[in-house]
Amino acid sequence: MAESGHVSNGGTAAEQHVGDAQFVVVANRLPVDKEVLPDGTVRWKRSPGGLVTALEPILRSQTGAWVGWSGIADSVDNPDIEGVDIHAVPLSTREIAEYYEGFSNATLWPLYHDVIVKPEYHREWWNTYVEVNRRFAEATAKAAAHGAIVWVQDYQLQLVPKMLRMLRPDLKIGFFLHIPFPPVELFMQNPWRTEIVEGLLGADLIGFHLPGGAQNFLFLARRLAGQATSKGTVGVRSRFGVVQVGFRTVRVGAFPISIDSGELDQKSRSKEIRRRAAEIREELGNPKTILLGVDRLDYTKGIDVRLKALSELLAEKRIDPEETVMIQLATPSRERVDSYVKMRSGIEQLVGNINGAYSSVGQPIVQYVHRAVPREDLIAFFVAADVMLVTPLRDGMNLVAKEYVACRSDLGGSLVLSEFTGAAAELRTAYQANPYDLDGVKDAIVAAIEQTPHEGRRRMRALRRQVLTHDVAKWAESFLGTLASVSETASDANRGVHLVDGGDVSADRDA
Ligand code: ADP
Ligand code: F6P
Repeated sequence: MAESGHVSNGGTAAEQHVGDAQFVVVANRLPVDKEVLPDGTVRWKRSPGGLVTALEPILRSQTGAWVGWSGIADSVDNPDIEGVDIHAVPLSTREIAEYYEGFSNATLWPLYHDVIVKPEYHREWWNTYVEVNRRFAEATAKAAAHGAIVWVQDYQLQLVPKMLRMLRPDLKIGFFLHIPFPPVELFMQNPWRTEIVEGLLGADLIGFHLPGGAQNFLFLARRLAGQATSKGTVGVRSRFGVVQVGFRTVRVGAFPISIDSGELDQKSRSKEIRRRAAEIREELGNPKTILLGVDRLDYTKGIDVRLKALSELLAEKRIDPEETVMIQLATPSRERVDSYVKMRSGIEQLVGNINGAYSSVGQPIVQYVHRAVPREDLIAFFVAADVMLVTPLRDGMNLVAKEYVACRSDLGGSLVLSEFTGAAAELRTAYQANPYDLDGVKDAIVAAIEQTPHEGRRRMRALRRQVLTHDVAKWAESFLGTLASVSETASDANRGVHLVDGGDVSADRDA
């Protein structure tokens, strides 16, 4: 099977209007989220999630265009952002329900996160996903200059690389997946698995956080798309896999994403932030231990895991309620998707139960904030927290863990980290635990609370070394540098690489 597939493109290069952007980011969301206040005033605020956290500093450092959705229905406004040419893709109420809440967040999201909840497969949702991906591809084809670099982001837009290539073969196209790429057995559930693999293969470079995701994808490119691929192990920012798609060579690699660690480190050292952090502790009644969770309110984040662990530790008197406060900052997320509605009420009930059982009047043990907090306040919370609780059941990377570390120039604090985050591969000296093993999580929390200052400094120093030397600029440079080198070396890409034929199923038996 070569370039043809089940998903048709929306026009020819000749019909396309070529734009002037040399570098284009394409993401489901714009970097800012539109809000219309009751009096009709329009306000733009930072969009939720790690994707924007990571990409915003990249686009600040090089001018370019950003193609994305404003976050509300039928909006065509392009907000003014210095240095970024915004191209809004309007979505109707039906498209939001079927493409965003439906196929993206009730099919792909749970499927790619270990089926923590059951993915739903609906043909109408898939059809709308195809339609919306086509509109993103068309908007991008209009924005991009001849020969531009286009960087397509995340699971909502997996068909865009192929659609865009058919519209604009002159472009250099990269794709990065911000969430985990699932094990082959789970991916195979998806009725539209082949179309998705073929959609991604429209890119010149496909990036995942971890080598395991890249290897799963190579297997599927061979199995489902019938392409010849390399078979050796993929390295981190090295030893890229290759897929031969007709005359094109697609590279596949692992590029662990990061944060602007230098900027956070600087900000967290400021007097203002230190003062605010001291105020936070004071306002909480000067507890001995502040535990902190910071997440989008998502069932993948294991907020319930840390609350259950806290509840049992209080019941077993391993944690003193007089000396402990837990702050949980939870950004509202995907509030119309059923599984999110259920999860929210479960978490709020757990918070209520703990506070009902262990708090004294005016001194709740769990302080739960269901909104996004301003960036500067967030940094002060990181500086104030003695133990950061990051306990996802599955997470592509988890930037919050890295943000906490970047904010601890004092070498204070400790990080409890789920083994099932992408960050766990880099943050080896965190107190790691399996989130499905509640006793293990409890032990990790107690060890983090009780560590000696010497042990805490040793661990935090090692964590900081990793986070400060592997920042988001390094991530972008390694991805974009590899993408830029693709056409220069296309004919050499598979020189010396042993390609396994797509039809040769026996070669997969020992995979
Ligand atoms: P995801 O992309 O799944 O939301 P990440 O941990 O990778 O998870 O990124 C989340 C980003 O959102 C981080 O930059 C974090 O600081 C930010 N964030 C999460 N919760 C809040 C909150 N309550 N207030 C402000 N920012 C938040
Ligand atoms: O990082 C994962 C991610 O799903 C991004 O793709 C997304 O922008 C972010 O989290 C927030 O989710 P949403 O855009 O659905 O609010």
